[in-house]
Amino acid sequence: MRRLFCTILLLSPLLLSSIANSAEVNVYSARKEALIKPLLKRFTEETGIKVNLVTGKADALIKRLEVEGKNSPADVLLTVDAARLHRAKQQNLLQKVHSDYLSKHVPQNYRDDEGYWYGLSLRSRVIVYSPERVPGKQLSSYEDLADPKWQKKLCVRSSSNVYNQSLVASLIAHNGAEATEKWAKGLVNNFARSPKGGDRDQVKAVAVGQCDLALVNTYYVGGMLESKVEAEKKAASKVSVFWPNQSSRGAHVNLSGIGITQSAQHKKEAIKLLEYLVSDAAQTWYAKANYEYPVVAGVANSALLKQWGEFKPDAINMDLLGKYNAEAVLLMDRAGWK
Ligand SMILES: [Fe+2]
Repeated sequence: MRRLFCTILLLSPLLLSSIANSAEVNVYSARKEALIKPLLKRFTEETGIKVNLVTGKADALIKRLEVEGKNSPADVLLTVDAARLHRAKQQNLLQKVHSDYLSKHVPQNYRDDEGYWYGLSLRSRVIVYSPERVPGKQLSSYEDLADPKWQKKLCVRSSSNVYNQSLVASLIAHNGAEATEKWAKGLVNNFARSPKGGDRDQVKAVAVGQCDLALVNTYYVGGMLESKVEAEKKAASKVSVFWPNQSSRGAHVNLSGIGITQSAQHKKEAIKLLEYLVSDAAQTWYAKANYEYPVVAGVANSALLKQWGEFKPDAINMDLLGKYNAEAVLLMDRAGWK
């Protein structure tokens, strides 16, 4: 009896503190811990809301939400690529959120029309090239990469990669499916090798002369330039970044974004987290941590990004990247893009 009494005495402060700290939010993040944790820590310091973080691969986390359904402990999904956010919405994994703060801060084309998800950072898929072998003035647009003058010159990763799918979806939205299929066939004819590896591998391939051009997300070049691995640094220093379509619609951009899950038990806290992540201070840190661009207008780019200059982004509504995803996948397959 006395032992039981002692146990209760020992437990009670813990119980009390857990009630006092019940303000919490559970986050499923496809972004690596190092990229998001310092920001979440600051959010907790400022608001007193505890954040429980689960990180995983983007598609695996969507699958997990699907399997867990209404019983999922997740309140928030943080992931990359508009096509994935669109898919999560279509699969009823997210819920509508209305917040004047979010609508005011996140430009309309960088959030879902109905408030199911909001963009947090921007990345552009650009042409990187060897300035030794390709004069920059020969480059112009994504469309031009299908020109036979680039035969056996281009490296790009597989069509199973969502970044390429979203780029092709944007071309379908702008130029139509027929023209885009013709373009994709021309592009495949210009491949220097069968698609393999990730974006960093395409940069390395240009650096060693396996190809002259590659399609790559800018933050990979940023990460390589500041890498602790000497070989990565060296490879990235041998390529230049070219912003395509600057005299027309602008360079293709995609985003990382966030939504509140259908199962959320901590919706109030989750909205606070979303609002925090689009605040100017969080935007500056978050964009800088992964060499990305802030979604919120007026937030300055990091010093590293400034070296590539200003660019005009494609103003397409990001939701179209998800809408045309299935069509893009089939089209790339028909074009022989492995
Ligand atoms: Fe990536």
